[in-house]
Amino acid sequence: MSEDFSGVSLRDKTAIVTGSGLGAEIAVTLAKRGANVVVNYVSEGSKKRAEEVVNQINNLGREAVIVQASVSDIDQIQPIVDAALKLSKNGKIDILVHNAAQGLEANLIDTTVDFYNQHFDCNVRGPILLTKAALPHIPRGGRIVFISSAAARLGVGGQTVYAATKAANEALCRTWAKELGHTYGVTVNNVNPGPIATDQWFNSDEQFLKDMQPLIDSTPAAPRVGEVSDVAPLVAFLCTDDARWVTGSSLSASGGLIQF
Ligand SMILES: NC(=O)c1ccc[n+]([C@@H]2O[C@H](COP(=O)([O-])OP(=O)(O)OC[C@H]3O[C@@H](n4cnc5c(N)ncnc54)[C@H](OP(=O)(O)O)[C@@H]3O)[C@@H](O)[C@H]2O)c1
Repeated sequence: MSEDFSGVSLRDKTAIVTGSGLGAEIAVTLAKRGANVVVNYVSEGSKKRAEEVVNQINNLGREAVIVQASVSDIDQIQPIVDAALKLSKNGKIDILVHNAAQGLEANLIDTTVDFYNQHFDCNVRGPILLTKAALPHIPRGGRIVFISSAAARLGVGGQTVYAATKAANEALCRTWAKELGHTYGVTVNNVNPGPIATDQWFNSDEQFLKDMQPLIDSTPAAPRVGEVSDVAPLVAFLCTDDARWVTGSSLSASGGLIQF
């Protein structure tokens, strides 16, 4: 019997992936499955990485376009959608991965309105406005995936605002699964990574990393921090036709650190 992987192929799908940390790996993984991808970054320091991602995708024989845009800025949302429409061969945007996030720590006592807005504007308002702008172009069978975090459920001190934004991602996922299911034929899912070796993790303060070490050591799958390559394949799967019966779900990609 011949092998058949057509149900997990993303051939000629058009995808938007926001952010370029874990997002870089997700973009390349989607391209490996056949998708053409809008690669997004915001900081000048991430430009080179975004360009490398585009090169990697082109070397795979797929197409990619870079958009420097902040999802926190209302005026920079539409250019992301426009870039996808330019990339798309059929005027459709099949896949939307909300990966970009602000992830700083602050204890409740130190939390300011600016800090709150910085996180909610990026992690919650950004995906809401980007999805709203992309929705008219998402075909039936389209896929939306949030990258939330184990922080939404773990309860780690210092993550008042970040954890709240990540719990909001889960809530949006469940809400949109219902709201967009029958009307738009779109699935909406949520992936909750545990600690993964990206800038966000390495930029955490020393005490936080020290406090987290026992938790890392207790990770059921292996006593180590996760890698981006541990998470991206799950995201890619949720974007496939084979994942059509999964919607409104949150999936833990934490090596079993958080089980649900
Ligand atoms: N690393 C972890 O341990 C961990 C654990 C659980 C969940 N997560 C989640 O995984 C996702 C990826 O995070 P990461 O680990 O890759 O973090 P990261 O290394 O800090 O990267 C965050 C990314 O978000 C982008 N970004 C930030 N603000 C943005 C904005 N306003 N508009 C567009 N892009 C923006 C950044 O772009 P620039 O580089 O251009 O600034 C960066 O590429 C996030 O949703 C995060 O919450 C991470």
